[in-house]
Amino acid sequence: MSPTPVTFASPVAPPGYAWEATTEQVAARYSLPPEAIVRFDLNTSPAPPAVADRILREARFEVPLSEYPPSDYRRLVEAAAAVYDVAPEELLVGAGADEVLDLCAKAFLPPGGAAVIPVPTYAMYRVLTEQRPARVVAVPRRPGTEGWHLDVPAVRAAAAAADLLWLCDPNNPTGDLEPEGKLEALLAGIAADADAAGRAAPIVVLDEAYAEFVGRSAVAWHRRWPNVVAVRTLSKAYAIAGARVGFAVGARPTIARLEPYRPPGSVSVPSVAVGTAVLRDPTALVENLARIETERPRLAAGLAALGWQVAPSVTNFLLVDFGSPERAAAVAEGLLRRGLVPRTFGAGHILAGHLRFTIRAPAENDRLLEAAAAIEAEASGTTAMTRPSTEEGPAPKDGGEQR
Ligand SMILES: Cc1ncc(COP(=O)(O)O)c(C=O)c1O
Repeated sequence: MSPTPVTFASPVAPPGYAWEATTEQVAARYSLPPEAIVRFDLNTSPAPPAVADRILREARFEVPLSEYPPSDYRRLVEAAAAVYDVAPEELLVGAGADEVLDLCAKAFLPPGGAAVIPVPTYAMYRVLTEQRPARVVAVPRRPGTEGWHLDVPAVRAAAAAADLLWLCDPNNPTGDLEPEGKLEALLAGIAADADAAGRAAPIVVLDEAYAEFVGRSAVAWHRRWPNVVAVRTLSKAYAIAGARVGFAVGARPTIARLEPYRPPGSVSVPSVAVGTAVLRDPTALVENLARIETERPRLAAGLAALGWQVAPSVTNFLLVDFGSPERAAAVAEGLLRRGLVPRTFGAGHILAGHLRFTIRAPAENDRLLEAAAAIEAEASGTTAMTRPSTEEGPAPKDGGEQR
C-alpha cells in the first residue's frame, strides 16, 4: 500500500507529492468494505462541523454556483482577520495551506535560490523548493530523544545564505512545539545577521497548521519581523479539510508580493461560505479541541501500555517509534489488514522506523487500540486479544514521507 508521496520517476519530471492509498484502494486490496476503513494518516477531524452540513444542505451561498466567488473573498477575509486579530490587508486566502505554501515558494524563492528546511518536517517544503527549482539546505533537527527540536545555531547559520526558511510549529510529523522563546530568538538572530551583512533577511514561512491545538500563534510576528509569513488552515482543528481553505498572514508589503501569484478564484463558492461560517461560529472548533484534550492522553497511554514508544504531542496526531523500519512496516501491514491506515515513512527516511497516527473519534481510537493489542499479541506468539484479522493482502510497499 503505498505512500510514496515524493516520487522522482523521471529525472526531468518535477518531484511530486501523494498521500497514502485511497480508501477505495485500501478496501479493495484488503477485501474490506470501504466504510470499515479509518484514516489515521491525514491529521483530519472525524466529522465536519454541523454548521458546514447545514450550509451545504441549504446551499445558502453568497452567489449562485453558476458564478465565480468574489475575487477578494471579502467575507471570508474579514472573518479570518477578526479571528487572527490582524487587518484584512495582512491576509491572503488560498485553497488550503498547501496552495499558500506553493504561492510562497513562487513569490519568495527564485529559481536557483536556496531554502532551508529543518528535517524531519512536512514533506511539501522540499517538493515546492525542488519544483522552483531551488536548492534544499536540509538542517537536521535535534534527535527524537531531545524532542526533535530545532538546532537553532545550525538553522540560523544556514539561513544567512538562503532566500527562504521553512518552519513548522508545532512540527508535523513529530508533533511537538518549540520551547517558549526559541523561535523568537532565532528570528532575532536572523534579523541581526542580515543587518550585519547588509542584506535583506530571508523570508521565514512559519506553517501553523496545528496552532489551534496549542493556542499559541505567530500571526502577529510580522509586526516585529516583516520577513515572517504565518500560514494557517481550516483543515485541522476547524475540521473542514475537504473545503480547502487556508491563509497567509504577514506584513502588507509581503502579502502584496504574494498576490500576483494567487489564482483569482481557487477557493470555491461553497468553501467560502463554509469557511466563513466556521470562523464566525467556533462551536465545532471548541468541541474538537476538547476531544483532542481527552483522547490524546488516552490513546497515547493505551499505546504506550503495549510498549509502543509514543513521542510527546501537542497536536491531533501521535508519532510512534518502532525501533526499525521492518517492525514499523509489519505493524502498518497488521493495521491495514484491519482497515486502519497509518502514515508510513519511506525507506531511507529519517523516520522510517516510525508510524504516525491521527487522534480520531473515541470509538475509532478504540479500534486502533484493539488492533495494536492484537498485533502485539501476534508478534509475541500469544492469542490475538480482539478483532480477528481479515483476509491476507499483499504487503504494503514501503515508502513515503510525512503529511
Ligand atoms: C504542516 C502542514 N502544513 C500544511 C498542511 C496542508 O494543509 P491544507 O489542508 O490546509 O492544505 C498540512 C496537512 O497535513 C500540514 O500538516
